[in-house]
Amino acid sequence: LANGLGMTPPMGWNTWNHFYCDINETVIRESADALVSTGLAKLGYRYVNIDDCWAEHDRDSKGYLVPRKSTFPSGIKALADYVHGKGLKLGIYSDAGSRTCSQTMPGSLGHEQKDAETFASWGIDYLKYDNCNNGDLKPMKRYPAMTRALMSTGRPIFLSLCEWGDMHPALWADKLGNSWRTTMDINDSWESMVSRADQNEVYAEHARPGGWNDPDMLEVGNGGMSNDEYIVHFSLWAASKAPLLIGCDVRNLSKETLAILGNEEVIAVNQDPLGVQAKKVRNDVWAAPLSGYRTVVVLLNRSPEFRIITAQWDDIGIPPKTVVEARDLWKHATLEKRFVNKVKANVRPHACKMFLLTLFLYQNRMNPKVFSWLV
Ligand code: GLA
Repeated sequence: LANGLGMTPPMGWNTWNHFYCDINETVIRESADALVSTGLAKLGYRYVNIDDCWAEHDRDSKGYLVPRKSTFPSGIKALADYVHGKGLKLGIYSDAGSRTCSQTMPGSLGHEQKDAETFASWGIDYLKYDNCNNGDLKPMKRYPAMTRALMSTGRPIFLSLCEWGDMHPALWADKLGNSWRTTMDINDSWESMVSRADQNEVYAEHARPGGWNDPDMLEVGNGGMSNDEYIVHFSLWAASKAPLLIGCDVRNLSKETLAILGNEEVIAVNQDPLGVQAKKVRNDVWAAPLSGYRTVVVLLNRSPEFRIITAQWDDIGIPPKTVVEARDLWKHATLEKRFVNKVKANVRPHACKMFLLTLFLYQNRMNPKVFSWLV
């Protein structure tokens, strides 16, 4: 969507995967505080996104959405001011149907202009727009009204479409939103996570600055997967240029979780200006070109045993014979060995290797002014 937003995938935090409907303004404020105190905000996690269950069951007599008095007594505007005061941005949630998925609050279908104006007047920066209770109306009949309404407010609001991939939004949503879900909801398990990554990969060609495929939010830190599995989760999401929306309780992060979510080198892959989504170029070799003649590869082992996984230059678009330097983005170390034609690794079960490959320039000893990438 040409609203100038999402030139790199959005980064932030969202309430749903950890708190579901059990949210209130204190949790939001404390989580905003935690994003700053843990250093995650500085690494780019700027959106603080409230998901479903923030509003009263019904609109007021004038047709406006009303923040739930028992849980958001100070209102959303006050929360936006608080979050903005910390240099962060506030996101909210609605639904392109009669009620949201939890059924606890109204949806925006038929109220798009009023709701968009309400959100803009509160200082909202991001809207997640869901798909429940849609009366079987086609998404193309329901989503454009919200896109137009948000644009007409004049406030830049990132629009995250949450159609779950049924109608292949990657094929039509680029003019309607800044991201679109390609999958049903994720849960905190290995099978759910890798299958979301696979379903999202199919649409790699459609991702670009301003419009991203969304395989759903992160489960890292919620406890259902091993550390290696969470590293796979974060590596695949980063390489796939997926939104990096943290879904755990950021007020209580373990050292391990913070090391995953805070891996600056992996975040830099996600935020690379080229904005090309990784593809499975062969078996479980995921690769994408990055800016500066670099390439990222993820060697994924989904089997329960150790596996040697090999990325061939041929498959990942590096010319034959090129000498390449590999940096292990989880060990934070550049390997001493240089690679020609392929790089391979012995990968633990349910784990991955993530390498940043840079063409290595050899200096010609006879003529030091001449450099070469070839041996
Ligand atoms: C749907 C969405 C989820 C979440 C819930 C809230 O299931 O896909 O991400 O927003 O609704 O009810």
